[in-house]
Amino acid sequence: MADVQTCTLLSEEEKLDALDPLRHLRAAADDTEDVSDIVPAQRPSILNQTVELAFSTVSTSADRIENNHVPEERGSEDRVVIKLMVDASPGCGGVAWPAGEVLSRYIARRGLSSMKRKTVLELGSGTGLVGLVAGKLGGDVWITDQAPLLDIMRRNVIMNDLSERVRVAELDWGTPIPFFSDFPRHPDVILAADCVYFEPAFPLLVQTLAELVPVPSLSVTDAQPEVLFCYKKRRKADKRFFALLKKEFSWTEVADDPDHEVYTREAISLLRLIRRSR
Ligand SMILES: C[S@@+](CC[C@H](N)C(=O)[O-])C[C@H]1O[C@@H](n2cnc3c(N)ncnc32)[C@H](O)[C@@H]1O
Repeated sequence: MADVQTCTLLSEEEKLDALDPLRHLRAAADDTEDVSDIVPAQRPSILNQTVELAFSTVSTSADRIENNHVPEERGSEDRVVIKLMVDASPGCGGVAWPAGEVLSRYIARRGLSSMKRKTVLELGSGTGLVGLVAGKLGGDVWITDQAPLLDIMRRNVIMNDLSERVRVAELDWGTPIPFFSDFPRHPDVILAADCVYFEPAFPLLVQTLAELVPVPSLSVTDAQPEVLFCYKKRRKADKRFFALLKKEFSWTEVADDPDHEVYTREAISLLRLIRRSR
């Protein structure tokens, strides 16, 4: 649980965030680093716009019948298409971030049924993009974020006809995991994209990740969730997040992504986190 000092600092920071959601990202300009691409390339005032994002996937003919999904033309590559409402007014999560697109592309490539029979939980979902893709791939998905983002996520679920597969919940890192009976306390897959940017939240995100992933035990063979964590390096301070994360998790770079070289050049890493045993 967050200590009192962290909570006080956080509430002050949150007031400033409400006035200027992107201020942390711009504040990085005070560092001596190259911050030319800190804020994703989108128009400065994004209000209630709808964009369409497509991700290549592969499907068997059984998938196509089951999903009522017909490729555009014979022999064309299948695609997962997401209509996304973007709106920067509820906070920086209201627009699509680069690591979210990388993670969406990676999971889509694994196939149209790759999330079938899996419970999936996304942290810091923002618009919900990654979780919506997981829903299109058959997952039983929860997308989560702070309260101001819930409305845009709900609208995106409806716009993509995913109400039966993708549910929305408030999950503020560092606070207890929601206690709805069907909320996955130990999901099969945990997804997080572009969630490392605000220093006071670093320990809270690590705490939530640690609560969701059981410590492996030698005596009990708990299935470990797959944790896919996509991150764009922006500031030197990000190192502090990884120093905290290291106490609870180890990680490896995802090696089977054909785009790996492309996004590495943009300082994006796709990591698979593994819970440390005690
Ligand atoms: C840079 S945005 C990334 C959004 C989305 N994952 C994407 O890739 O487009 C970071 C997200 O983390 C959420 N976030 C920040 N602090 C949080 C906290 N303490 N608890 C839950 N979510 C938080 C923000 O509201 C925002 O939606």
